[in-house]
Amino acid sequence: TGYITFDEGYGNTGSCKSNITFIDGEKGILRYRGIPIEQLAEQSTFLCSAYLIIYGELPTETQLNAFRSKVAGAARLHENFRHHFEGFPSKAHPMAVLSSMLNSLGCYYPEMSSNNREQDLELFDDAAALLISKVRTIAAMTYRMSLGLPFNFPRKDMRYVENFLHMMFTEPYDEYEVSQEVADALDLFLLLHADHEQNCSTSTVRMVASGGANLFASVSAGVGALWGPLHGGANSAVVRMLEEIHASGDDGSRFIMAAKNGKARLMGFGHRVYKNYDPRAKIFGEAAERVLKALGREDPLLDIAHHLEQAALKDDYFIERKLYPNVDFYSGIVLKAIGIPVEMFTVMFAIGRMPGWIANWKEIAETSNKIHRPRQIYTGYTKRDYVPMADRG
Ligand code: CMC
Repeated sequence: TGYITFDEGYGNTGSCKSNITFIDGEKGILRYRGIPIEQLAEQSTFLCSAYLIIYGELPTETQLNAFRSKVAGAARLHENFRHHFEGFPSKAHPMAVLSSMLNSLGCYYPEMSSNNREQDLELFDDAAALLISKVRTIAAMTYRMSLGLPFNFPRKDMRYVENFLHMMFTEPYDEYEVSQEVADALDLFLLLHADHEQNCSTSTVRMVASGGANLFASVSAGVGALWGPLHGGANSAVVRMLEEIHASGDDGSRFIMAAKNGKARLMGFGHRVYKNYDPRAKIFGEAAERVLKALGREDPLLDIAHHLEQAALKDDYFIERKLYPNVDFYSGIVLKAIGIPVEMFTVMFAIGRMPGWIANWKEIAETSNKIHRPRQIYTGYTKRDYVPMADRG
């Protein structure tokens, strides 16, 4: 197999050419379509950044308004979706529900999910807006279902995040009042997750797309890839870790020792590409402080996170391996402050990452006809003969 290069986990393999997102891991730089994440976090919104990521340019006011109303108009799910929800046990994991629902959604729009590239691309704008909109409705309905609460219909008069919070938290006789701080924090969360080049889930979306599969099937596969604790599942794992540390009375020092001895992994630390501070972690660290202050709340988990961060950044084990906080280190504290339950954290990541998955599907559908098909280094038996049952020992 001499001609096959072995690169475990593709750490040094460029699987595609892309002009969507740029990362310089050594310097801690992240840009969507050339624009630094810090500028977008400060001046843009999730939907505006989603447009930028998908279509390559910042929208004009008219373009943004048209995109917003397309997304807002697509928020409702077909009534028959109730039956899909009823088919899941109440303890079903929301990521399992989300992945199934996104694929099911394609069945309601066969013309957009034809697996005929030309046709799927022709209807791409509708499919993209529909997915960005409905992923949020599915998430909220999953939450309501898990608690046995009635579904809340989306409202056309509300903006993207406000509408989501309304669908999550409004009770029949008690309208949910969305505070500006909470809406801003959630919008920032989604914006910071919107794309991140060839991470595990986006590469999965591209892999599925490379075979010619439609957008719905491709993003549904992306949700499965995102679920694991080393990828999107890290945000809930961080909060669980912080809660355990808090419950044990440790300030984080014992946990750092355990991580150094290989007995635990400091969740929310380390990254395949960033060998420096993940720029999103910096923004989230500040956002966590801001949102807790604005809501007049304290969270002991934030102090533990600060302590862990300071201890790790001074420790040779972490310094030698260039392990810094990543996007997930503080994002869970922000979500917790907003009132999102821990089991839903990775679903929130999926809502945020939807534009990135969509843009990567579009890029591959428009520019490449080459199926992704990695090779392997075979390590099994050489040729051997079949043994009849009677002769097996
Ligand atoms: N805690 C303790 N040790 C670590 C950690 C950590 N969080 N991350 C890496 N290491 C060690 C690892 O044990 C290895 O040590 P040694 O060389 O002695 O064997 C070395 O650092 C290199 O680690 P690796 O696992 O080979 O690195 P990778 O590039 O394959 O993995 C990672 C990257 C993100 C999966 C890993 O750092 C990790 O598991 N972090 C914790 C989970 C996490 O926060 N994931 C979210 C990633 S960012 C958002 C996203 O992609 O969804």
